[in-house]
Amino acid sequence: MTSGAGMSLAGAVREATAVLAAAGVPSPRVDAELLAGHLLGVGPGRLRAMLLGDSPAPEGYDDLVSERAQRIPLQHLTGVAHFRYLELAVGPGVFIPRPETESVVQLVIDRLQGSRHPKVVDLGTGSGAIAGSIAHEVPGSEVHAVEFSGFAHAWAAKNLLPLGVILVRGDLRDALPEHNGTFDVVVSNPPYIPAEAIPNEPEVALHDPPEALYGGGADGMELPTAAAASAARLLLPGGYFVMEHAEVQAAWIASMLERTGLWSEVTTHLDLNGKERATSAVRRNGGQNPEPRAAKPSNPEIPDERIGQ
Ligand SMILES: C[S@@+](CC[C@H](N)C(=O)[O-])C[C@H]1O[C@@H](n2cnc3c(N)ncnc32)[C@H](O)[C@@H]1O
Repeated sequence: MTSGAGMSLAGAVREATAVLAAAGVPSPRVDAELLAGHLLGVGPGRLRAMLLGDSPAPEGYDDLVSERAQRIPLQHLTGVAHFRYLELAVGPGVFIPRPETESVVQLVIDRLQGSRHPKVVDLGTGSGAIAGSIAHEVPGSEVHAVEFSGFAHAWAAKNLLPLGVILVRGDLRDALPEHNGTFDVVVSNPPYIPAEAIPNEPEVALHDPPEALYGGGADGMELPTAAAASAARLLLPGGYFVMEHAEVQAAWIASMLERTGLWSEVTTHLDLNGKERATSAVRRNGGQNPEPRAAKPSNPEIPDERIGQ
């Protein structure tokens, strides 16, 4: 890129769009505008107005565009991920929250309509997107969040402590034993990608932390199964569990929950693209805590290209 000193903002954004398109960035014009807006400290509306005038390109724009062309995630360059009503601080070492997870948060918020002081826990909180949104949008809620990775925990602390979320560093498999049987809602977007299904996008394969992606085992189901077992342990009778997963895992997760005998109202939910990307269930009264790892699905082969995240 040669936008350098003296080039107009409009010309620099046009050139950046071509550079990013050539690098295979999926939305080159949007990213070119967001990077310019980030450097100028303006939102999309103000940037559009500036693009119509004779504003100069901001200093450092070429460098930022070159980094994005190397497929460094946009959010790592701006330091911010937008999720529902929140602006979350993100960077290396933490999973960038995805739009489909906003629908999972909506399921929790719908469930909690009319609840006065609900107690909620987010297992594997990453940046804190789910826990932070619930704390922000459900008045009177007491929200806990669990994260295993030290890097992710540090980002979560930055995002969640100002929102009053109680954050613990721990393993979702055995976290919060002192709270067994006390939560109204357990929500999780655990790692769920099968071991061999390496994501295609460089932003995901090279920059999302592996511990946020791979669920464990050939089918990626070890941590989702463990999250369900912890939910059964942590929820009150009548409590609500909701978990995000890949589209091809939906049927297996529903039958895994049914098999334990611990859940009623097992329901698969569609995301905004009509894909089966979340499952919820209601904790029955009583029942034994399930085995940490349920039986393997009869056909654990999950085609790589159908795995989300
Ligand atoms: C797919 S990311 C989701 C992050 C966040 N909830 C979101 O939706 O954006 C999964 C998160 O679970 C965390 N994690 C992985 N294994 C864990 C474990 N055993 N216990 C707790 N957290 C774990 C990862 O570090 C990562 O932050």
